[in-house]
Amino acid sequence: MFVFKAAVVGAGTMGGEIAQVIAASGIPVVLKDVDQKFVDAGIDKAREVTERANAKLVSKEKLSADQASIATEEVLGRIGGTLTYDDFGDVDFVIEAVPEKMEIKQAVFSDLDAWTPGHAILASNTSGLSITEIADATSRPDKVVGFHFFWPASFMRLIEVIEGEETSPETAQAAANFAQQIKKMPVRCAECPGFVVNRILMSTASEIWRYQDETGIDVKEIDAAIQGAGLAPMGPFHLSDMTGLDTSLKVAKDMQDAYGDRFYVHNTMEELVAAGNLGQKTGKGFYEHGN
Ligand SMILES: NC(=O)c1ccc[n+]([C@@H]2O[C@H](COP(=O)([O-])OP(=O)(O)OC[C@H]3O[C@@H](n4cnc5c(N)ncnc54)[C@H](O)[C@@H]3O)[C@@H](O)[C@H]2O)c1
Repeated sequence: MFVFKAAVVGAGTMGGEIAQVIAASGIPVVLKDVDQKFVDAGIDKAREVTERANAKLVSKEKLSADQASIATEEVLGRIGGTLTYDDFGDVDFVIEAVPEKMEIKQAVFSDLDAWTPGHAILASNTSGLSITEIADATSRPDKVVGFHFFWPASFMRLIEVIEGEETSPETAQAAANFAQQIKKMPVRCAECPGFVVNRILMSTASEIWRYQDETGIDVKEIDAAIQGAGLAPMGPFHLSDMTGLDTSLKVAKDMQDAYGDRFYVHNTMEELVAAGNLGQKTGKGFYEHGN
């Protein structure tokens, strides 16, 4: 199946950049959220990422400044922000990127089932929830699939394609093909909490979080040591701030529920989320962020 038009539901930390990736590959995309300010923020993010990519091409003398600004407008022109499902009647592939809560995802999938054409594939960017359970909210569980990007979506090449119990082989293949159409690298995986990457990432992060709670060492010191040693582009506390502490905490709790105490939930992260400090998206988390 070739995707002529796509949609992204949820224009937050992930959704804006996912829409950008699709638009930059030449495919029109509808970007939906529940409030215009979130749609606008998602489109602003898409613009920022596109401008940065085109500025690099200008510095390498592959584009003139004029060509870069035309190219940016072309990409942005393919993204249609919306608060309704009115433009979903002719989409081929939808990526849901709403908060990591089963009841919100199921409500969105039920809406998508009603508003999209029967052939459309409904994909979830969930970090670890059951695709089978999400698909239960639709009348087309064979066309529901996990399609897990990594932050930052414009930069990270991998996409996990997750098959639920009823996902058809055709759907999984079409999702893998779409990942390639948008210049990403699909990896097929079976359904299990955390899939492949988060299972590895969260088990490593768990040890660091546990150590920090036990010793009280400054999180900035730990991040600096990990980054300074070249082990990762940024330390785990900074990364959690950037990806959203509410999302990181939910994933950590889900992993602990699924696999037990070898996965750890960080105390300070819980306190920050309870206080509404979610990291970069609210301006404060382990770090202060100028938004
Ligand atoms: N943040 C990450 O690094 C990351 C990485 C990979 C996957 N994910 C997954 O992607 C999904 C989204 O995460 P995020 O970090 O972008 O969350 P986020 O909180 O930053 O953004 C979610 C957006 O969804 C919107 N939303 C809520 N209900 C909606 C609805 N009914 N219709 C349309 N929009 C709605 C919210 O207003 C918000 O703008 C989660 O399942 C998360 O686990 C996140």
